[in-house]
Amino acid sequence: MSRLIVVSNRVSVPKAMGAAGAQGGLAVALSAALREHRGIWFGWSGKETETFTGHLDMQRNCDVTTATIDLEPQDIDEYYNGYANRTLWPLFHYRIDLTEYDRSFDEGYERVNARFADSVAPLIEPEDLVWVHDYHLLPLGSMLREKGVTNRIGMFLHIPWPPTRLFVSLPNHEQLVASMLHYDLIGFQTEEWLDSFTHYVKKEMGLPVADDGTIEYQGRQILARAFPIGIDYEEFTEGARSAEAREAHDRLKSSVRGRKMLIGVDRLDYSKGLGERFDSFGRFLTDNPDMAKDVVLLQIAPPSRENVASYQQIRHDLERKAGHINGAHADVAWVPIRYVNRGYRRTELAGFYRAADIALVTPLRDGMNLVAKEYVAAQDPEDPGVLILSQFAGAALQLTDAVLVNPHSTEEVSDAIERSLRMPLEERRRRHQALLNSIREEDVVDWREAFVATLQGKRTTEPSHAEP
Ligand code: ADP
Ligand code: F6P
Repeated sequence: MSRLIVVSNRVSVPKAMGAAGAQGGLAVALSAALREHRGIWFGWSGKETETFTGHLDMQRNCDVTTATIDLEPQDIDEYYNGYANRTLWPLFHYRIDLTEYDRSFDEGYERVNARFADSVAPLIEPEDLVWVHDYHLLPLGSMLREKGVTNRIGMFLHIPWPPTRLFVSLPNHEQLVASMLHYDLIGFQTEEWLDSFTHYVKKEMGLPVADDGTIEYQGRQILARAFPIGIDYEEFTEGARSAEAREAHDRLKSSVRGRKMLIGVDRLDYSKGLGERFDSFGRFLTDNPDMAKDVVLLQIAPPSRENVASYQQIRHDLERKAGHINGAHADVAWVPIRYVNRGYRRTELAGFYRAADIALVTPLRDGMNLVAKEYVAAQDPEDPGVLILSQFAGAALQLTDAVLVNPHSTEEVSDAIERSLRMPLEERRRRHQALLNSIREEDVVDWREAFVATLQGKRTTEPSHAEP
């Protein structure tokens, strides 16, 4: 088995992080995938240093070896807060209205990718497979090639790829995609994002794309494929039955005093459709006065990317909206929305999921969405809850037995809440069983194995620096 060198912006091993947990799909999936594979996980430590030295901090946590570097404040500002989260993130989530372009962001992005390449290249041995993750590091493969790395290098994008008409609004879009065409394999969460990418490559770059996803570029062959990510199935099916999960479940259940509970668990991000979700729940309360006082929505939303203005704005808007809905509907002994901004341990989350009658997973756009899968896995199969899922989450392509909704329509989501609360046990069980089967059949280990096997099986790219 080849060693795996995983490279991502963020490196965090959830069990080593204590109560705050890891609040992003990438960290959760990679730590689960790496636990069973020999290798190194390289990335940014999340810490600042006054002057970049390239010093590698190597650690071993929960069977995973991590190697991290610190970045300068200007790097963090231009690369992470800037190009990654003020340019690419909104654009790739179809939010052109929030997308900002600034040359200093481009420069910071290039600089930090070059720093990543300089620091990770010496760790790579001849037989290693290199697996790069997400939108922070799209040009890293080309920079590694420039340094003479001839290993197989794959890239997986955890977020959507936008339609061509949106993507071309990015200055230097062709340069960015051309830099990606130094990978041997480019993976996407769903066929939809894959199709958007190959559409761009065909229409804007005029490159041939074969039916199996092979792209021909400058004498190289690059394979583009969809690899839908899964969860650590047992972590949630078994985790939900653990003593800690049961304690969390009972604590939450007793606090709602026999009421039905809806749950939402999302990073505090505008792509997650939290404002629309609150509005839909408010509408449900107004339209169903007979049921309203017997229902509570628990929204867990840990703050994310707090130095970016659009995230400060969404936080402010949600606080106002939750206050407004609670003000309009609450009673002395009942508040309809419990809005909590903190992280929880994963077993506690499993207990909360199991206690909830409905999960509201209603992003406006999402590469996949792991919360939807975790919720299903944590349910009691005898008396399962109902998953209400946005049709715009990548997960909707697999989880077709969820109650699928358009998250922009408050009426539709409100109706879905009502229907789900009244759903007979038999239908809940049937839907749950079908969802569970699909989650078990494509878990995080299958995802890793499919990607790694495809990368390994792929013919090596012609080295850009010919070997003697
Ligand atoms: P994204 O990657 O955009 O954040 P996902 O739904 O794919 O969205 O993944 C989010 C991950 O973060 C899930 O594994 C979820 O359990 C975890 N998470 C989200 N909120 C919390 C929280 N408050 N405490 C602990 N883990 C969280
Ligand atoms: O899964 C998408 C993603 O953007 C990851 O790349 C990222 O680690 C996660 O969400 C959380 O975001 P951040 O690392 O910016 O806190």
